[in-house]
Amino acid sequence: MNTLILNEEQINTAADIIKKGGLVAMPTETVYGLAANALDYRAVEKIYTAKGRPSDNPLIVHVAEVEDIYPLVTSFPEKAKKLIDAFSPGPLTIVLPKSDIIPKEISGGLDTVAIRFPSHPIARKLIKKAGVPLAAPSANLSGSPSPTTAQHVIKDLNGRIDAIIDGGACSVGVESTVITLVPEVPVLLRPGGITHEMLTSVIGDVIIDSAVLNPLKNGQAVQSPGMKYKHYSPKARVILVKASDDDFYNFTAKNNKDGTAVLCYNEDTEHIKLPFIAYGNKNDYAKQAQMLFDALRKIDDMGYTTVYGRCPSTDGIGLAIYNRLIRAAGFEVIELA
Ligand code: TXA
Ligand code: MG
Repeated sequence: MNTLILNEEQINTAADIIKKGGLVAMPTETVYGLAANALDYRAVEKIYTAKGRPSDNPLIVHVAEVEDIYPLVTSFPEKAKKLIDAFSPGPLTIVLPKSDIIPKEISGGLDTVAIRFPSHPIARKLIKKAGVPLAAPSANLSGSPSPTTAQHVIKDLNGRIDAIIDGGACSVGVESTVITLVPEVPVLLRPGGITHEMLTSVIGDVIIDSAVLNPLKNGQAVQSPGMKYKHYSPKARVILVKASDDDFYNFTAKNNKDGTAVLCYNEDTEHIKLPFIAYGNKNDYAKQAQMLFDALRKIDDMGYTTVYGRCPSTDGIGLAIYNRLIRAAGFEVIELA
């Protein structure tokens, strides 16, 4: 299949492709999404094939206005309203009980649906012009880091989808925060740009699911099927090193085998003796989130086989960065006292 590369002015072409049951990669403020008509199960099936995604991993449904949510769910609790008033449009996904118009191909057999109201103008325009809600997972091959530029999407999906709208680099850079409002106390399933602190300030208690920070135990049931799959992984072995600045510099200097690189902050670079990929200033979590997936992709592009990364702290957006990196590392952490 020939994949069209479109710009913002060609959004009508993209909307026509969606209406005919095709697949279009679109920019959102978080990462690029691979969009199809959420109400057409055959179009949704194509998403799984193009990505090589396991069919029990459900998709997020994207809408352009709050009212568009009502037909998709069977209840719309007060806490959903409060979260949407506070944070939508934006990088937040809310899980609610699903209505019958959501095909089972979207929900992976669950009786819930994840809904997001993106703020990116191109995503919103595409939803409006297509006239239907859009199912859209991240537009990467399953397992690889999410795409934050059109070039990342081209690398993974060229020839496998109908079109890509190039809208430049994504501003948030990690996928949306996913929260379920189905249990009595809401549960944070995936950390993102809307932080745990921001959520609790609006709706009170929010439990952080144990799979956000910890590996799943054998046979452990998951609240969010995406958590059980290997994710965000470069081909290289990534190892996080939890250490003071000086201990990190000494450790990497001693472990300087061929093919080894360091994933670090801008301030570290003058102290590092190995090749490095820096992804932002140490205290600038927003920038680190924006650069993280590009940095993970560079590791493979540059052919490194082992990468020692600094271990992020888990406050604010740091929790989202830690959650992605710890998965990229397959939970391999070296702790230097
Ligand atoms: O920022 C984002 O959310 C991006 C952009 C494109 O919107 N999309 C995205 O989709 O990251 P995806 O498919 O890569 O990740 C969706 C996550 C998965 O971990 C999935 O398991 C979870 O949301 N999810 C989807 N539906 C769910 C449901 N009904 N219950 C629990 N988790 C759900
Ligand atoms: Mg994804």
